[in-house]
Order: sequence, then structure tokens, then C-alpha cells
Amino acid sequence: MQIVRTIADLRSCIAAWRAEGLSVGLVPTMGGLHAGHLSLVGEAARRTDRVVATLFVNPTQFAPNEDFDSYPRDEAADAAMFEGAGAALMFAPAPEIMYPKGHTTKVIVEELGAMLEGEFRPHFFVGVATIVTKLLLQSLPDVAVFGEKDYQQLCVIRAMVRDLDIPVEIVGGETVREDDGLAMSSRNAYLSAEERKVAPVLYENLRLVAAGERTAEEASAYLLEAGFSSVDYISVRDAVTLLPEMNPGRPARVLGAAWLGKTRLIDNLAVG
Ligand code: PAJ
Repeated sequence: MQIVRTIADLRSCIAAWRAEGLSVGLVPTMGGLHAGHLSLVGEAARRTDRVVATLFVNPTQFAPNEDFDSYPRDEAADAAMFEGAGAALMFAPAPEIMYPKGHTTKVIVEELGAMLEGEFRPHFFVGVATIVTKLLLQSLPDVAVFGEKDYQQLCVIRAMVRDLDIPVEIVGGETVREDDGLAMSSRNAYLSAEERKVAPVLYENLRLVAAGERTAEEASAYLLEAGFSSVDYISVRDAVTLLPEMNPGRPARVLGAAWLGKTRLIDNLAVG
């Protein structure tokens, strides 16, 4: 696996593959890799000839009070994991490569990006949409793979690619879970042993809401009862528009975000 750090090097590697007629898949990540990330690399490798995995802890999607500084960073371990999963190239730029002095442009996905996560983290999807647009235009892949774990992010990216006419197929990869149902996340590393035992209660409640055995309000109360410190939202939404108005016959999704001590966990499931 090659490691490149500049946009020029990224483009020249990809141009060489294109000259051979090879197709290209992109898997953007912020590192702190786990089996969920690697499943996306595997999905991209099944669909394309060469996979570009990116490693960049994107400062613009963190608010000043959030965990940018403490976010897990271990480039050597991440590179080994990407390589083992079948990536041909890792793009690991420094912040000044992605945001040189004078960088002023932002990509804003209104409505979809303003609800749910966007309500609690107003900066978040602006940072995500801007960096993903840049990564897509830097690499111009045939396919880019994103996890359903961050379901709203996947919806925002699909809308952005459609609206900006970016010529790429966006593919969603299934959420990879621990044996007890907890969705794998780089942020699970923040949980204490005690909190880790409570964490699967989020998945368990989303599962019950998805099965129609508990309402969203009941699920919130169960989370607090189980030891979660607060619940940002548990909500059943249209699976495409993410609006709360539900039409019979259309797919729905239950999404949730809750705090366990200082750690914020999110998860979601298809309803029914
Ligand atoms: P990050 O949290 O590192 O996640 C990278 C990709 O892995 C995302 O598409 C995310 O949805 C997916 N992912 C995370 N946990 C997963 C799991 N348990 N199962 C399957 N896929 C999982 O999401 C981001 O980074 C950033 O916002 C990014 C898109 C890279 C832009 O900075």
C-alpha cells in the first residue's frame, strides 16, 4: 500500500491507474480504525479495482468544546489495518494541505443537515460536507463508501453529491457491531469499563422501537434509567428525507443519540 500526503501525489497515483483502465473506490475515515471501517474498505474492494482509504481527523467538523485534540490517532496502526483490508493507497494529508491559509469555502446541505445531529452539532455537517466534497474532487472515484452507522451523514452526502452533480456512486455499508450489539465506533475507546457495560442499551432500545415494541419516548426513559446521562434524541423518521412525517409504505429509520458520561453515542436501525 502506498502512502501519499499531497493532493498532487494522490492525483498522479490515481491517474496512473486510470491510464491502465482501472476503477477506483474511496473510503474516507478519521482513523481510530475498527472492523466497521475495514468492512467499508472490503466493500469498496469488491466493487472497484483500487481502493483509496483516507485518514484525516477533520478539524472543521468538531466544535471548540469537542474531542478534536483527544480523538484517537495512531497512523502506523491505521496504515497496517487499511493495508490488511485491501486498500491500495492511503491518503493522509496534514491539516494545512486540506485547509491552506485563506481557505474560505464551505458546503452547506440545508434541511437534511440542520435536523437531528445538525441541531445538536450545528457545525458538524458543514465540516463533513466540505471535507467530503474536497476528497471526492481530489480523487474523483467511481464509488465512495460510507457507513450506515452515521445514517444521517450518508443521507447528507447523497444529497450533496446529487445537488452538486459530483459524478460518483455513493454506497452505504452496513453497521458492524460488537457481540452485544454496540455499534463499533472510534469513540467507544472513551468509555470506562462501567460505561461500556451500559452502552449496548442504546442499540437494545432502538431495536425495540424498530420492532414497534417501545415508543421513542419510552426508549429515552429506559436509557436514562440504565445510566445514560442524557438523551439528545430518539426519533423515528422517513428513511430518505429524515422528516418526522411518516407515510405508510415508505421505509422508516429510528435514529438515536445519547450521552454516557462524557461520551456521545449515536446509532440507528431500519424500522420493521
Ligand atoms: P469516521 O467516524 O472515521 O468514519 C469513517 C466511515 O466509517 C464513515 O462512513 C462511518 O459511517 C463508517 N463507520 C463508522 N463506524 C462504523 C461501523 N460500526 N460500521 C460500519 N461503518 C462504520 O465519518 C467520518 O469518519 C467522517 O465524518 C468523514 C466522513 C471521514 C469526514 O471527515
